[in-house]
Amino acid sequence: MKIILLGPPGAGKGTQAKVLSQRLNLVHISTGDLLRQNVSKATQLGLEAKDYMNKGALVPDTLVTSMLSERFNQEDVKKGFILDGYPRTLKQAESLDVLLKEKQYKIDKVFYLDTSEKIVVQRLSGRLVCSKCSANFHKTNMPPKKDMVCDACGASLYQRQDDKEETIKKRLQVYQQESAPLIEYYKSKGKLVRVDSDQDANVVLEEIIRRSKENDTPKV
Ligand code: AP5
Ligand code: MG
Repeated sequence: MKIILLGPPGAGKGTQAKVLSQRLNLVHISTGDLLRQNVSKATQLGLEAKDYMNKGALVPDTLVTSMLSERFNQEDVKKGFILDGYPRTLKQAESLDVLLKEKQYKIDKVFYLDTSEKIVVQRLSGRLVCSKCSANFHKTNMPPKKDMVCDACGASLYQRQDDKEETIKKRLQVYQQESAPLIEYYKSKGKLVRVDSDQDANVVLEEIIRRSKENDTPKV
């Protein structure tokens, strides 16, 4: 199965993708996580991407698409994948179509995690991320069992650079301008499935799993 998760920052793409990848035995590909790994290792790509990310702007399409293309060359992707944070522009969606064609892959469903702005701001301002495995927690919504320690791997948690109020606002603007048109793009291809992502994370998860198993053309 090949799935895309769409939705604004804070919709829960990363949270859902982590659990879904285990439940459905799929590879989780997060362009945000891949970029942050490059930034922390200070690779050439990381150095080029860092300022864009800290400002809440998008990293240029060509850089992100070549990073994704490399990831697609790895063997594990053949078993199926969840794309989290890519595509994010119409240009990227078109590049993805080309990459998929080359690999003879087909996207089954695109889940649009529809979330209100008020909820998104509350989620992002309290988010904590694992420095090792990138698992997401939240100071009040999903607190870790031990303060600032990851439940999954025991590494330390941190607050993302771009989860400051100013940057959150900028990321939401960028989402509306650049990424929201993807909803229509995938609707017109008959692939879009809308899920109310203001709900509890487990409710969202079960709805995605249930609808991923439906064979009919998705109803929006
Ligand atoms: P990226 O890392 O993809 O960030 P984003 O899209 O801004 O999304 P987030 O990770 O902030 O939100 P999420 O939907 O994953 O929410 P999460 O599950 O963490 O990208 C970062 C940057 O990298 C971009 O700004 C850009 O610069 C660059 N970049 C990445 N991809 C790119 C691309 N394709 N092109 C160009 N540039 C790119 O949840 C948020 C919080 O809410 C967590 O604390 C979680 O615990 C909590 N939570 C989640 N679900 C629920 C729920 N149902 N109820 C209560 N709390 C919840
Ligand atoms: Mg994320």
